[in-house]
Amino acid sequence: MVYMDYASTTPVDPRVIKAMLPYFDKKFGNTMSPHEWGMEARETLETAREEIASLLGAAPNEIIFTSSATESNNLAIKGVAFANKERGKHIITSKIEHLSVLEPCRWLERNGFKVTYLDVDSYGLIDPKRVEEEIRDDTILVSIMHANNEIGTIEPIEEIGKICEEKGVYFHVDAAQTFGKIPFKIRDLHVDLLTISSHKIYGPKGVGALYVSEDVRMEPLLHGGGHEFGLRSSTVNIPGVVGFAEACKIAEGEMDSEITRLTELRDKLIQNILETGRAHLTGHPKKRLPNLASFWIESIEGERLIMELNERGIAASTGSACASGKLEPSHVLLAIGLSRREAKNSLRLSLGRWTTAKDVEYVVDVLWEIIEGKSR
Ligand SMILES: Cc1ncc(COP(=O)(O)O)c(C=O)c1O
Repeated sequence: MVYMDYASTTPVDPRVIKAMLPYFDKKFGNTMSPHEWGMEARETLETAREEIASLLGAAPNEIIFTSSATESNNLAIKGVAFANKERGKHIITSKIEHLSVLEPCRWLERNGFKVTYLDVDSYGLIDPKRVEEEIRDDTILVSIMHANNEIGTIEPIEEIGKICEEKGVYFHVDAAQTFGKIPFKIRDLHVDLLTISSHKIYGPKGVGALYVSEDVRMEPLLHGGGHEFGLRSSTVNIPGVVGFAEACKIAEGEMDSEITRLTELRDKLIQNILETGRAHLTGHPKKRLPNLASFWIESIEGERLIMELNERGIAASTGSACASGKLEPSHVLLAIGLSRREAKNSLRLSLGRWTTAKDVEYVVDVLWEIIEGKSR
């Protein structure tokens, strides 16, 4: 079997599992308990928080643990909207965001907010000048993703961040696809809020975090016992945050070599698939995630292609896991200018820690047979 769907989710690294295990049965305390078990849980939580904060170049009290990137995105957008509605009710985002950004924005629109959805160019790039032009007196938040999960394009976050800083508008970035994969520090990006997720970087599912700069005014979505600085009540998932922190440390240590290795494999994959003459790259050729190759392919529907690949032991995707399975073409591919038919013929191959050169060879051979009806 060849797994080429790492952008959707990743297996938990055995080193992460090992780090988590004691926290299920031996060190199982609740961080809110006054006894020894509680104290131990509090220490564990704060150590994990410090580790993740230091990787981001943030202060520990700026990290809020959540259950996922979806929750972090919801908290960032609705939390800022609720707390700042007296200042204004306008939000700017883009047409290619993940549904966990777009849907909270649509929900806010139904509740009296105004949202501008920025266009992107044919590579999926957002023009920072357009962000600047759309900022108005009542704009409270700009939310733009770091890299797109379907086409891998990396956005000019730093430039957009500087504009937001100058204009005094909060800037949220969904970094679910970049954190742990490409190097960055919070301060360089000029962001106020940033979403990260554990299961995209070989950590467990059910854990994410939101970086919230100290000066952001925000309301919680979950009210209760006041956990996570009052911004996210609920007993903290200690095995989860331990696993997330361990996954971050491993990712940080291996990042440079993985970027080199995966970029090489990705480019080989892209080059060999484009050679069929029936495949077209989607996303930016250079400004893209090191582990993501995406295409639209003439004459074969994405869903059928995925099934055929599956029959030959290859796990791939048409785009985002959430959008595949639906018959509607991807909003991202339509936004970069593909026709509905082209957008339905999409293929996303995403590589990761256990992808080998042999895997790439095999996938290329199978794709040649399916697309061209003959071997390479
Ligand atoms: C860019 C982006 N944002 C948010 C999410 C949602 O992540 P989670 O599964 O942690 O809720 C994903 C997952 O596919 C993603 O790729």
